[in-house]
Amino acid sequence: MCGIVGYVGSQSALDVVMAGLKRLEYRGYDSAGVAVQADGGLAAAKRAGKLVNLEKELMERPLPAGATGIGHTRWATHGGPTDANAHPHADNAGRVAVVHNGIIENFAVLRAELAERGHDLVSETDTEVVAHLLAEEFSACADLAEAMRLVCGRLEGAFTLVAVHADAPDVVVGARRNSPLVVGVGEGEAFLASDVAAFIDHTRSAIELGQDQVVELRRDGVRVTHFDGTGAEVRPYHVDWDASAAEKGGYASFMLKEIAEQPKAVADTLLGRIDPSGSLTLDEVRIGAAELREVDKVVIVACGTAFHAGLIAKYAIEHWTRIPCEVELASEFRYRDPILDGRSLVVAISQSGETMDTLMALRHAREQGSKVLAICNTNGSTIPRESDAVLYTHAGPEVAVASTKAFLTQLVACYLVALYLGQVRGTKWGDEIQAVIKDLSRISVQVERVLETMEPVRELARSLADKDTVLFLGRHVGHPVALEGALKLKELAYMHAEGFAAGELKHGPIALVEEDLPVVVVVPSPRGRSVLHDKIVSNIQEIRARGARTVVIAEEGDEAVVPYADHLIRIPATPTLLQPLVAAVPLQVFACELATARGNEVDQPRNLAKSVTVE
Ligand code: AGP
Repeated sequence: MCGIVGYVGSQSALDVVMAGLKRLEYRGYDSAGVAVQADGGLAAAKRAGKLVNLEKELMERPLPAGATGIGHTRWATHGGPTDANAHPHADNAGRVAVVHNGIIENFAVLRAELAERGHDLVSETDTEVVAHLLAEEFSACADLAEAMRLVCGRLEGAFTLVAVHADAPDVVVGARRNSPLVVGVGEGEAFLASDVAAFIDHTRSAIELGQDQVVELRRDGVRVTHFDGTGAEVRPYHVDWDASAAEKGGYASFMLKEIAEQPKAVADTLLGRIDPSGSLTLDEVRIGAAELREVDKVVIVACGTAFHAGLIAKYAIEHWTRIPCEVELASEFRYRDPILDGRSLVVAISQSGETMDTLMALRHAREQGSKVLAICNTNGSTIPRESDAVLYTHAGPEVAVASTKAFLTQLVACYLVALYLGQVRGTKWGDEIQAVIKDLSRISVQVERVLETMEPVRELARSLADKDTVLFLGRHVGHPVALEGALKLKELAYMHAEGFAAGELKHGPIALVEEDLPVVVVVPSPRGRSVLHDKIVSNIQEIRARGARTVVIAEEGDEAVVPYADHLIRIPATPTLLQPLVAAVPLQVFACELATARGNEVDQPRNLAKSVTVE
């Protein structure tokens, strides 16, 4: 959840690092800092707050030129967002600079030992201990990569570290345990970053560092070793994201851009997965059909929006395959001592592929002998690397912290997995699968249609900007949609928003309903399970009778809701299980617009980071 950049080459290290940090600022923006090798020593600058504060500092007090350097944008874990706690951290002699992503769990013990040896630690962070330890080890071996390996052997927890030393000219060293670190290999230069977006303007040849590995960057190349010093095999890959794809493309925010990209993201996620006959071809799911036929339980683990996608997936998996499906908050999963074995298929859903809660959950599942299938949007990230198989969503880079296109593509991937399970187990006939795929193939156009009719939703959002609370109701697959709508509003507008199963309202939450309270209701299709539709219409009447202002999301042609809707938002008619793909979109637009009306920064909401790589 921090952004890290390292560079060695012939360009201005400061320019390369600062441009890279700009691309990574979404990963955390509590503080930022840089360090460059210059004049036989290190020159550094760091400031609390967003990157712009560091840019101002560098304008006022420029650093000397250097072609080797590192940089960091921080999401605070240990120690508040202050100048002193900003990275890079240095040893007392100022000969080492180190930046860090993760948490060093034994830092207190190490800090006490260092103090006993006369080191003066000046920050509240866990990271600073690494600078002092590196200084000690380097003074003994005069090899920064070896010093890093020795230090990593003493650390516990999750850490990605990048360091430079004044006495190791034109060398940058990185180490990785759990948190992401990618190497960019250029001509006579090399890069290190938390995310390829930091260096794809310079090179598209990347190497994903593996667990417990150290990389040494020099102008003429990189060397990767395991923590024990043995050589590690590297697997370069080509980065196919355009730099422009990581820019706003003319939209006021990444979030608006990404909402607008959803039709393409949905279509792209289907691409190459349907053969000419209309059947599914999920070759990348490297779990054999025979094994999938043995599966007797599916367990989905995820966090936040990805968890809501899992809740929807449950309905599809159970309906199409008749396999029991549990959906678990990843942060709770392993602590409840789940019942897993070789016949459990665990599905880990994650946009970033770096969410520590989800990563630790899948590790636990694998320790129990279960197969793990990742559904992920980030190529080469940790979660798919540690899973038995992966089904990548093809949403492209999702920069805004609030997840939108990743959510829709997670749903598409989940539907594909459910259909694939049905296909290999024979619980869905070929023609049935083709029918669902045909429906899925129409969704992209239907999402486009929804996006074209969002102006009334934006007007409504602006009119509610002064409200303190909005409730969201849904039934069946509409219930997770209600939860997702509430989460969007919470994380963007910083207001109380809560999603409920509509049938649960009468068991307590209806006490919240008062005059003019906005309540958004996601109405299931009347063509699906009419009983659900009739019940939710009753729910709307119940809340309206108590003064609620009803905002009803209902499919075109559903006239039964009209008398009870203060605001009616139409969505295209879709099959029951696929409705979340179109119903979620107005809620994304609603939350984004209301937050904007409140003057909030929608791409980087307060207190949040795009990838939460600590537990
Ligand atoms: C959703 O808008 C948030 N950004 C957050 O809930 C996110 O979905 C969650 O942290 C999981 O992230 P992941 O998909 O990268 O694992």
